[in-house]
Amino acid sequence: MAHLLVTGGAGFIGSNFVHSVLSDTDDRVTVLDALTYAGDRRTLAGLPADRLEFVHGSIADGDLVDELVSGADVVVHFAAESHNDNSLRDPRPFVDTNLVGTFNLLESVRRHETRFHHISTDEVYGDLELDDPERFTETTPYNPSSPYSATKAGSDLLVRAWVRSFGIRATLSNCSNNYGPRQHIEKFIPRQVTNLLDGRRPKLYGDGLNVRDWIHVDDHNAAVLRIIQDGQIGETYLIGADGELDNRSVIELILELMGHPRDAFDHVTDRAGHDRRYAIDWSRLRDELGWQPRYRSFEEGLARTIDWYRANEAWWRPVKEAIEARYAAAGQ
Ligand code: NAD
Ligand code: DAU
Repeated sequence: MAHLLVTGGAGFIGSNFVHSVLSDTDDRVTVLDALTYAGDRRTLAGLPADRLEFVHGSIADGDLVDELVSGADVVVHFAAESHNDNSLRDPRPFVDTNLVGTFNLLESVRRHETRFHHISTDEVYGDLELDDPERFTETTPYNPSSPYSATKAGSDLLVRAWVRSFGIRATLSNCSNNYGPRQHIEKFIPRQVTNLLDGRRPKLYGDGLNVRDWIHVDDHNAAVLRIIQDGQIGETYLIGADGELDNRSVIELILELMGHPRDAFDHVTDRAGHDRRYAIDWSRLRDELGWQPRYRSFEEGLARTIDWYRANEAWWRPVKEAIEARYAAAGQ
C-alpha cells in the first residue's frame, strides 16, 4: 500500500483520479488543494475517510508542501490554473501556481527523494494546421501560445531540469482535452450542456473549425497510473485517444443528444491567439507500456457526461450566472 500526495485533487481531473485510486487500489491519498474557484470539496464526497485526508492549502506555501511531501511515497501533481480564457484576462495566478507552485514541489521531492509525476498538457506544443498530417509526439518542439500554456511549458521544463541536474525521480505526461463528470462549467463541453439545461443557446468561438483531441478523464487517469507504475524515470509520455473533432461538430452532437436542432447555437467572439488544432500520437504509451484507452465511443461518453450534469444540477447551478456574466462581458 502506497501513500499518494495528490495536488489539485478537488478539481476536475484530480478528483476523478482520487476516485479511481481509492476504488481500484489499497493506496492512501492525501489531497492538497487551495479550493480556488475551480476546486470543490464536494467532488470528494462519499470516499472512504480512513484512506483519504484533505488538506486545504496552496502549493505556493513551501513549508506546507515540504511537510506533506515528507510523508508521501509518490506525489501526483495536478494542481494548476487551467483555463486559457482566464489566463488572457489575468495571467498572474498562472505564474504563481503553475511555475512557483511546481518549483516548491520540485524542491521538496528533491530534498525527500520522493517519486514525482507531473501532469501536463498537449498545449505546450502550440498548434497544428487543420490539414497537417503530423500529430504531436514526445519530441515535438515546445511552442506555447497562451499565458496558460506558456506556464505549463515552463513547469515541464523545470521538471526536466530537476531530473537532469538533481536526479529527482520524475515522469511527465502531456494529455489532450479531457471530458467527463465534475469538469468546471467554464470549459467548453460542460458550458454548452449547462447552457441547454438552463434554456440558453450554446456558444461557439469564431468559425468553430478549431480541432480538439478528446479523451475521457478516466482514460487519462488510467494512463497516469500506468506511467507511475512502469514509466521510465525522466521520460515524457503523451496521452491521447484518437478523439479529434472540430468544435462545431461537438456542439451539434450535444444539441442532438439533448433533443435540440443541430443549428440552435450562436457564433461568438473568438479567443485571442486561439490554437487551431491539437492532435496526439500516443504510440509510445501503447508500445512501451501496453496502455490502451477504454472509451472508444465519444458519443457514448458524451451522453453519459450530459446525464451527469443533468443529475447534478445542485453542483453547477450556484456558479452558472456568474460564469455566463463574465463570458458575456467578453462578447462570448
Ligand atoms: P481544474 O481547474 O478543474 O482543477 C485544478 C485544481 O487545482 C482545483 O481543485 C484548484 O482548486 C487546484 N489549485 C489551483 N491552484 C492551486 C494552488 N495554488 N495550490 C493547490 N491547489 C490549487 O483543472 P483540471 O482540468 O482538472 O486540470 C488538472 C491538471 O491537468 C492541470 O495541471 C492541467 O494543466 C492538466 N491538464 C488538463 C487537461 C484538461 O483537458 N482539462 C488536459 C491536459 C492536462
Ligand atoms: O488540450 C488540453 C487543454 O484542454 C488543457 O490543458 C486545458 O486545461 C483545458 O482547459 C483544455 O484547453 P482548451 O482551451 O482546449 O479547452 P476549452 O474547454 O476552454 O475550449 C475547448 C475549445 O472550445 C477551444 O477551441 C475553445 C472552444 N470554446 C470554448 C468555450 C468555453 C468555444 O467554442 N466556446 C466556448 O464557450
